[in-house]
Amino acid sequence: MDREIKSLDIGTMHLISASLTKDHQIRYKKLRNAFLKVQVQASMAGLLQQEAMQCVEIGQDFYALGDSAFKMAAVTAKSVSRPMQDGVLNPKEKRAEIILKLLIEGLIGQAQGEGALCYYSVPAEPFQSEKRLVYHSEIIHSILEELGYSATAVNEGMAVVYSGLAERRFTGIGISCGCGLLNVCVSYKGQSVEAFSIDRAGDWIDDNASKAIGETAGKVLATKEGGFNLLAPVDRTEKALAIYYKELIRYSVECIKTRLSSGARLAVYKKPLHIVCAGGTALPAGFIALFRSEIRKARLPFKVEVVSLVKDPLYAIARGCLTRAVVDDRSRFLSQCTAFRRAKCQSRKSKPAKRKARPGKAPRKRKKAR
Ligand SMILES: Nc1ncnc2c1ncn2[C@@H]1O[C@H](COP(=O)(O)OP(=O)(O)OP(=O)(O)O)[C@@H](O)[C@H]1O
Ligand SMILES: [Mg+2]
Repeated sequence: MDREIKSLDIGTMHLISASLTKDHQIRYKKLRNAFLKVQVQASMAGLLQQEAMQCVEIGQDFYALGDSAFKMAAVTAKSVSRPMQDGVLNPKEKRAEIILKLLIEGLIGQAQGEGALCYYSVPAEPFQSEKRLVYHSEIIHSILEELGYSATAVNEGMAVVYSGLAERRFTGIGISCGCGLLNVCVSYKGQSVEAFSIDRAGDWIDDNASKAIGETAGKVLATKEGGFNLLAPVDRTEKALAIYYKELIRYSVECIKTRLSSGARLAVYKKPLHIVCAGGTALPAGFIALFRSEIRKARLPFKVEVVSLVKDPLYAIARGCLTRAVVDDRSRFLSQCTAFRRAKCQSRKSKPAKRKARPGKAPRKRKKAR
């Protein structure tokens, strides 16, 4: 059956969907996971929509959504609101769930036809803080089911393994360096051995760098996303960013060391491990070099062969979830075919065997018993 298959990377900063085109290419769509309450007259709402501004009216209030919220925030010198914080639904935003549903619907639409699938990313439980994951995952699940999809959660670190470690038979460590969290997953031949998240990532860098130099978080974010070299910062903002990037990487490697120090679960690995990084926070030049150097210093309880950056790091989580969805769908289809073939064989065996007619010859006459 040709059903619709989609994936959705649900992140603190970005919502990214992936689907297959008819010629088997992956098509991505990306939206900022943000909103902004705007002061407009009802008569202006149509005008905003004409300007291709995504906006919505909830009760008495107007909200700009997604990338439009960022554009409006820049014009009005305000900060956007976020439906998510630290990788999960933002408990401080009363409108978080309703806004997130609107953003998701805008990105992937209602399911087309029967049996449409959507595999979505969820973070792992945090390393050292409280657990809010179950609530988050259940809400996302229900949003997708309301849109008509059969929804399946995929661990975010494992999604990195699916998109970056296929040539290593899905064995190694996948790390998603996002906005709210760093998600780590240790995989052996496609099976998750250990998965956890670390509660520092892009937002932590922005907050600390902006406080240190008395600059707005918006300005710091723009400098960071504008592209800079971590190993050769040129001004005050870039220097502050580089300092907090280095601290983030040091802290993350320390957490990985502590969490994996027992080594019992790593006993299956005979060869040195490949670590692959993905996500927006891994994008600046010099990130992988810094990561490698911290790993060398840390004396981890296992050997590391290579540390690399996955192809298209920002889209790798959506790609990994889509890979898993397609593989699951194919193996379901193959097991259905096998079950069908078995049932057919069974019904043939249970019928009495007929004699084959001999072509061109009259049927033999039975000899009369004497
Ligand atoms: N070109 C860039 N250079 C540096 N940082 C970037 C760049 N583009 C995006 N980022 C940062 O990457 C982070 C977003 O990355 P990503 O989309 O992987 O996170 P997320 O999935 O939304 O968050 P999470 O997984 O933590 O919930 C933000 O902190 C953003 O500022
Ligand atoms: Mg993410």
